[in-house]
Amino acid sequence: MSCELQNQSTNQVWSMPRIGDPAPEFRAMTTKGKLNFPSDYGDSWKILFSHPADFTPVCTTEFIAFANMQEEFEKLNTKIVGLSVDSLSSHIAWVRNIKEKIVWDGNANVDINFPIIVDLSKKVSNLYGMLMPGESNNACVRAVFFIDPKNIVRAIIYYPLVLGRNFDEIKRVIIALQTADAHDVALPANWVPGKEAVLHSPITTDEAQERCAQEGINCTEWYLCTKKL
Ligand code: BEZ
Repeated sequence: MSCELQNQSTNQVWSMPRIGDPAPEFRAMTTKGKLNFPSDYGDSWKILFSHPADFTPVCTTEFIAFANMQEEFEKLNTKIVGLSVDSLSSHIAWVRNIKEKIVWDGNANVDINFPIIVDLSKKVSNLYGMLMPGESNNACVRAVFFIDPKNIVRAIIYYPLVLGRNFDEIKRVIIALQTADAHDVALPANWVPGKEAVLHSPITTDEAQERCAQEGINCTEWYLCTKKL
Protein backbone atom coordinates (compact mmCIF):
# COMPACT_ATOMS: atom_id res chain seq x y z
CA MET A 1 0.00 0.00 0.00
CA SER A 2 1.19 3.53 -0.66
CA CYS A 3 -0.12 6.98 -1.46
CA GLU A 4 -0.47 7.59 -5.22
CA LEU A 5 -0.02 11.10 -6.58
CA GLN A 6 -0.72 12.35 -10.07
CA ASN A 7 1.04 15.25 -11.78
CA GLN A 8 -1.81 17.28 -13.31
CA SER A 9 0.22 18.51 -16.29
CA THR A 10 1.98 15.27 -17.29
CA ASN A 11 -0.55 12.76 -15.85
CA GLN A 12 2.46 10.85 -14.50
CA VAL A 13 1.57 8.80 -11.42
CA TRP A 14 4.10 8.14 -8.71
CA SER A 15 3.80 6.64 -5.28
CA MET A 16 5.03 7.42 -1.85
CA PRO A 17 4.84 5.07 1.13
CA ARG A 18 3.44 6.67 4.24
CA ILE A 19 4.33 6.09 7.87
CA GLY A 20 2.48 2.93 8.91
CA ASP A 21 2.40 1.45 5.38
CA PRO A 22 4.13 -1.83 4.49
CA ALA A 23 7.47 -1.07 2.84
CA PRO A 24 6.99 -1.47 -0.93
CA GLU A 25 8.78 -4.58 -2.20
CA PHE A 26 11.25 -4.54 -5.07
CA ARG A 27 14.11 -6.48 -6.66
CA ALA A 28 17.23 -4.59 -7.69
CA MET A 29 20.91 -4.97 -8.49
CA THR A 30 23.32 -3.47 -5.95
CA THR A 31 27.06 -3.19 -5.40
CA LYS A 32 26.72 -6.30 -3.23
CA GLY A 33 24.68 -8.34 -5.73
CA LYS A 34 20.96 -8.89 -6.23
CA LEU A 35 18.63 -7.62 -3.53
CA ASN A 36 15.05 -8.59 -2.71
CA PHE A 37 13.90 -5.75 -0.51
CA PRO A 38 12.86 -5.88 2.28
CA SER A 39 12.65 -9.69 2.61
CA ASP A 40 16.42 -10.31 2.30
CA TYR A 41 16.93 -8.51 5.59
CA GLY A 42 14.54 -10.74 7.56
CA ASP A 43 13.59 -9.26 10.91
CA SER A 44 16.29 -6.58 11.01
CA TRP A 45 15.45 -2.89 11.04
CA LYS A 46 16.27 -1.30 7.69
CA ILE A 47 17.39 2.18 6.68
CA LEU A 48 16.79 2.72 2.96
CA PHE A 49 18.25 6.04 1.80
CA SER A 50 18.61 7.83 -1.51
CA HIS A 51 21.34 10.22 -2.57
CA PRO A 52 21.35 12.56 -5.58
CA ALA A 53 24.39 11.33 -7.49
CA ASP A 54 27.70 9.49 -7.33
CA PHE A 55 30.90 11.55 -7.42
CA THR A 56 29.30 14.60 -5.80
CA PRO A 57 30.73 16.33 -2.74
CA VAL A 58 27.93 16.29 -0.17
CA CYS A 59 27.00 12.69 -1.03
CA THR A 60 30.62 11.67 -0.56
CA THR A 61 30.65 13.14 2.96
CA GLU A 62 27.37 11.35 3.71
CA PHE A 63 28.72 8.01 2.51
CA ILE A 64 31.74 8.38 4.76
CA ALA A 65 29.45 9.25 7.67
CA PHE A 66 27.24 6.20 7.00
CA ALA A 67 30.30 3.94 6.60
CA ASN A 68 31.70 5.18 9.93
CA MET A 69 28.41 4.40 11.67
CA GLN A 70 27.64 1.07 10.01
CA GLU A 71 28.99 -0.95 12.94
CA GLU A 72 26.85 1.07 15.37
CA PHE A 73 23.80 0.40 13.20
CA GLU A 74 24.68 -3.34 13.07
CA LYS A 75 24.67 -3.32 16.90
CA LEU A 76 21.18 -1.81 16.68
CA ASN A 77 20.11 -4.71 14.42
CA THR A 78 19.81 -2.23 11.55
CA LYS A 79 20.87 -2.71 7.91
CA ILE A 80 21.75 0.23 5.67
CA VAL A 81 20.96 0.32 1.95
CA GLY A 82 21.74 3.28 -0.33
CA LEU A 83 20.32 4.16 -3.74
CA SER A 84 20.80 6.57 -6.60
CA VAL A 85 19.80 6.64 -10.25
CA ASP A 86 23.40 5.97 -11.31
CA SER A 87 24.76 2.81 -12.97
CA LEU A 88 26.48 -0.13 -11.30
CA SER A 89 29.85 0.81 -12.81
CA SER A 90 29.46 4.37 -11.54
CA HIS A 91 28.66 3.12 -8.01
CA ILE A 92 31.66 0.75 -8.07
CA ALA A 93 34.03 3.41 -9.41
CA TRP A 94 32.86 5.95 -6.81
CA VAL A 95 33.22 3.53 -3.89
CA ARG A 96 36.74 2.66 -5.07
CA ASN A 97 37.56 6.35 -5.51
CA ILE A 98 36.36 7.17 -1.98
CA LYS A 99 38.63 4.46 -0.56
CA GLU A 100 41.66 5.40 -2.64
CA LYS A 101 41.52 9.19 -2.84
CA ILE A 102 39.17 10.90 -0.43
CA VAL A 103 40.35 12.43 2.83
CA TRP A 104 37.59 14.20 4.70
CA ASP A 105 37.10 15.26 8.31
CA GLY A 106 39.95 13.06 9.53
CA ASN A 107 38.78 10.03 7.52
CA ALA A 108 40.82 8.31 4.84
CA ASN A 109 40.87 4.86 3.24
CA VAL A 110 37.15 4.45 3.96
CA ASP A 111 35.42 1.22 2.91
CA ILE A 112 31.79 1.56 1.84
CA ASN A 113 30.46 -1.84 2.89
CA PHE A 114 26.70 -1.33 2.60
CA PRO A 115 24.95 -2.08 -0.72
CA ILE A 116 24.12 0.71 -3.15
CA ILE A 117 21.10 0.07 -5.35
CA VAL A 118 21.35 0.66 -9.10
CA ASP A 119 18.19 2.53 -10.10
CA LEU A 120 18.83 3.72 -13.64
CA SER A 121 15.19 3.01 -14.54
CA LYS A 122 14.02 5.06 -11.49
CA LYS A 123 11.70 2.17 -10.60
CA VAL A 124 12.61 2.17 -6.91
CA SER A 125 12.93 5.95 -6.61
CA ASN A 126 9.42 6.34 -8.01
CA LEU A 127 8.07 3.56 -5.79
CA TYR A 128 9.44 5.29 -2.68
CA GLY A 129 8.76 8.92 -3.65
CA MET A 130 12.45 9.82 -3.72
CA LEU A 131 12.17 11.97 -6.84
CA MET A 132 10.83 15.46 -6.31
CA PRO A 133 10.67 17.30 -9.66
CA GLY A 134 10.51 20.73 -8.00
CA GLU A 135 13.93 20.02 -6.47
CA SER A 136 15.51 18.09 -9.36
CA ASN A 137 14.24 16.59 -12.60
CA ASN A 138 16.70 13.72 -12.67
CA ALA A 139 18.24 13.17 -9.22
CA CYS A 140 16.77 11.82 -6.00
CA VAL A 141 16.48 14.04 -2.97
CA ARG A 142 18.12 12.84 0.26
CA ALA A 143 15.37 10.54 1.57
CA VAL A 144 15.65 8.24 4.58
CA PHE A 145 13.10 5.48 5.23
CA PHE A 146 13.12 3.72 8.60
CA ILE A 147 11.57 0.25 8.28
CA ASP A 148 10.90 -2.04 11.22
CA PRO A 149 11.32 -5.84 11.55
CA LYS A 150 7.70 -6.33 10.40
CA ASN A 151 8.57 -4.32 7.28
CA ILE A 152 6.40 -1.35 8.21
CA VAL A 153 7.60 2.17 7.37
CA ARG A 154 8.01 3.83 10.76
CA ALA A 155 9.61 7.19 9.96
CA ILE A 156 10.65 9.17 6.90
CA ILE A 157 13.07 12.11 6.67
CA TYR A 158 13.68 14.18 3.55
CA TYR A 159 16.54 16.63 2.99
CA PRO A 160 17.13 18.80 -0.09
CA LEU A 161 20.09 18.43 -2.42
CA VAL A 162 22.15 21.16 -0.78
CA LEU A 163 22.01 19.80 2.78
CA GLY A 164 23.80 16.72 4.08
CA ARG A 165 21.91 14.62 6.60
CA ASN A 166 22.39 14.70 10.38
CA PHE A 167 23.59 11.19 11.22
CA ASP A 168 23.17 11.62 14.96
CA GLU A 169 19.49 12.23 14.21
CA ILE A 170 19.28 9.12 12.03
CA LYS A 171 20.73 7.04 14.85
CA ARG A 172 18.46 8.77 17.40
CA VAL A 173 15.38 7.89 15.32
CA ILE A 174 16.30 4.19 15.20
CA ILE A 175 16.99 4.05 18.96
CA ALA A 176 13.83 6.03 19.72
CA LEU A 177 11.61 3.74 17.62
CA GLN A 178 13.13 0.65 19.21
CA THR A 179 12.69 2.18 22.68
CA ALA A 180 9.07 3.19 22.01
CA ASP A 181 8.29 -0.36 20.87
CA ALA A 182 10.13 -2.10 23.70
CA HIS A 183 8.53 -0.03 26.50
CA ASP A 184 5.20 0.99 24.93
CA VAL A 185 5.94 4.67 25.51
CA ALA A 186 6.37 7.86 23.49
CA LEU A 187 9.44 10.08 23.46
CA PRO A 188 9.38 13.83 24.08
CA ALA A 189 11.01 16.67 22.16
CA ASN A 190 14.78 16.35 21.90
CA TRP A 191 14.69 12.95 23.59
CA VAL A 192 17.99 11.12 23.69
CA PRO A 193 18.74 7.73 25.30
CA GLY A 194 18.83 8.07 29.09
CA LYS A 195 16.13 10.76 29.22
CA GLU A 196 12.65 10.05 30.58
CA ALA A 197 9.93 8.71 28.30
CA VAL A 198 6.38 10.03 27.98
CA LEU A 199 3.37 7.86 28.87
CA HIS A 200 0.67 7.48 26.24
CA SER A 201 -2.37 9.65 26.92
CA PRO A 202 -4.87 8.03 29.31
CA ILE A 203 -8.07 6.76 27.73
CA THR A 204 -10.34 6.79 30.80
CA THR A 205 -10.91 9.28 33.62
CA ASP A 206 -9.89 6.60 36.14
CA GLU A 207 -6.61 6.05 34.35
CA ALA A 208 -6.00 9.81 34.30
CA GLN A 209 -6.57 9.95 38.06
CA GLU A 210 -4.52 6.87 38.94
CA ARG A 211 -1.41 7.63 36.98
CA CYS A 212 -0.80 10.91 38.82
CA ALA A 213 -0.58 8.99 42.12
CA GLN A 214 1.57 6.15 40.79
CA GLU A 215 5.11 5.78 42.10
CA GLY A 216 7.84 6.37 39.53
CA ILE A 217 5.60 8.47 37.33
CA ASN A 218 6.08 12.23 37.21
CA CYS A 219 3.06 14.21 36.02
CA THR A 220 3.00 17.93 35.43
CA GLU A 221 -0.61 17.45 34.30
CA TRP A 222 -2.74 14.32 33.87
CA TYR A 223 -1.91 14.20 30.16
CA LEU A 224 1.83 14.91 30.45
CA CYS A 225 3.47 12.23 32.56
CA THR A 226 7.00 10.84 32.26
CA LYS A 227 8.89 7.92 33.69
CA LYS A 228 12.44 6.60 33.76
CA LEU A 229 13.00 3.53 31.62
C1 BEZ B 1 26.24 16.88 -3.63
O1 BEZ B 1 26.17 15.77 -3.15
O2 BEZ B 1 27.17 17.64 -3.36
C2 BEZ B 1 25.17 17.38 -4.55
C3 BEZ B 1 24.53 16.48 -5.39
C4 BEZ B 1 23.56 16.96 -6.24
C5 BEZ B 1 23.22 18.30 -6.25
C6 BEZ B 1 23.84 19.17 -5.36
C7 BEZ B 1 24.82 18.70 -4.51
